[in-house]
Amino acid sequence: MAVILPGAPWLIAHRSMLGVNKPYKVALNGRDYVLWQNQQGEIFALDNVCPHMQAPLSDGWICQERGTIACPFHALEFD
Ligand code: FES
Repeated sequence: MAVILPGAPWLIAHRSMLGVNKPYKVALNGRDYVLWQNQQGEIFALDNVCPHMQAPLSDGWICQERGTIACPFHALEFD
């Protein structure tokens, strides 16, 4: 796969692909990201790697009260 231009905008997912409060994994240019959409339709994205022990955040769950994603290994939350 050709390397993309760093900083260039790319359509990586459409809102219709995201469930509400469900983590969605996207791979782009050799990196994984996790996206999710809250009840209000706001969309969030993070690297799909927990900074603690590198668990995939996309295997975690969304904490609706705080708008965070919880890591599946130790339940630390990120936003
Ligand atoms: S690996 Fe994510 S909280 Fe520990």
